Amino acid sequence: MSKKLKLGVLISGRGSNLQSLIDATKKHDFPAEIVIVIANVPNIAGLEIATKANIPVQIINHKTFNERKSFEDELHGALTKAKVELVCLAGFMRILTDHLINRWLDKIINIHPSLLPSFKGLNTHNRAIESGAKFSGCTIHFVRSEMDCGPIIIQAVIAIKQNDTSDTLASRILVEEHKIYPLAVQLIASKKVSIKNGRVRLRDAVSPRTTLINPR
Ligand code: GAR
Repeated sequence: MSKKLKLGVLISGRGSNLQSLIDATKKHDFPAEIVIVIANVPNIAGLEIATKANIPVQIINHKTFNERKSFEDELHGALTKAKVELVCLAGFMRILTDHLINRWLDKIINIHPSLLPSFKGLNTHNRAIESGAKFSGCTIHFVRSEMDCGPIIIQAVIAIKQNDTSDTLASRILVEEHKIYPLAVQLIASKKVSIKNGRVRLRDAVSPRTTLINPR
């Protein structure tokens, strides 16, 4: 098999998406490997997950920097040193600016727990429920400096139930997050993803035939 794509995973908390990427990379034919996990918050569960998997970790605490630029310079330095080729934001709760993004253009992807472009930002599940929308889901997209924007790679859809709470909806969406993040990485590492006119084009893409209607 050809060389594996080197991933740097950036986290700020629990790390369940990191775990899904670790699990995927354990399969010998998965075309990517995690070479570093960077956290901007110390003492988080995600760091234990990385350490348990014998992945090098680094804490770059944003609070110890006077300005975003120097924080991002430190991130850039760590990613470069680890020879990262694709940066995966996995519950990384710091906004990145063009200072970093332009140096890693089309090489940073993010997971967001809604069907973008709906419900950017925080508190997505509550806002989705309160909007009365019948569907929500999750999105993997390339990162641009405008928050939760950028070419969409893959999405999964979940029906919102009448009695859903933010927690019940979040937990059903999380199950799908753990499927689509490894899938997006696999597509990129297999060179099936390109961007044309600001939109993602997938080589050999097969669209589902089903239509979802909620309620049935
Ligand atoms: C995930 O649900 C992810 O989609 C979300 O944070 C959670 C992190 O969970 N990300 C965002 O809201 C980014 N805007 P995890 O630490 O268990 O992967």
